[in-house]
Formats: sequence, structure tokens, C-alpha cells
Amino acid sequence: MDMVSVCKTDEVAPGTSLRVEIDGLPPLAVFNVDDEFFVIDDTCTHGDASLCDGEIEDGQVECPWHNARFCIKTGKALTFPAVVPQKTYVVRVLDGTVHIEKND
Ligand code: FES
Repeated sequence: MDMVSVCKTDEVAPGTSLRVEIDGLPPLAVFNVDDEFFVIDDTCTHGDASLCDGEIEDGQVECPWHNARFCIKTGKALTFPAVVPQKTYVVRVLDGTVHIEKND
């Protein structure tokens, strides 16, 4: 199991997100929800919108294009028009750096 460094924790303030591009992975969205970090695919499963451009509220992110809402923790599509969940990643925070586990 590989761990991949994604960003520094201080790059993502509480209530915000950061889009990160890493070779070999789709664009990632890092969210800080009350100082807990979550990483999901950034590209909305309904289209090509970047979820990092969406509104964050109550642990959910709203897609900026057609307003589907996703659970940041589980990736679940909560409202139409999205029905396919966002891929989520296992996150480890070590020494001020956000890492994800890469399974391949
Ligand atoms: S692109 Fe996200 S809801 Fe349509």
C-alpha cells in the first residue's frame, strides 16, 4: 500500500477545499471540515465541473454547475442530477501533511 503526499494541512483552511493534481491520479479535491481532512475526486461524476469551485456546507459540497450535492466524507451523491458517488480516498495526516493511500 503506497502513501501519496497530497498537500500541507495549512494549505486548506477549515471550511475550504484545494484542488490538487498528481501524476497518475485524477484531479483530487482536499476538504477541511472542522480540521478533519477528506479527499475525493474533484471532477463531478455528473459532468466535468470542479467540486473545489462549489459551496461547502454541513459536510457537503454543492457542484457549481448543476447543484448536485455530495457528502464530503462518503462521496455519496445526495441530490440530483448526480447519482454516481465521488471516489473517496483513505486519508492519513502525518507531520502536517495530508496523504492518501493508493491501492494499485
Ligand atoms: S456537473 Fe456536477 S451536477 Fe452536473
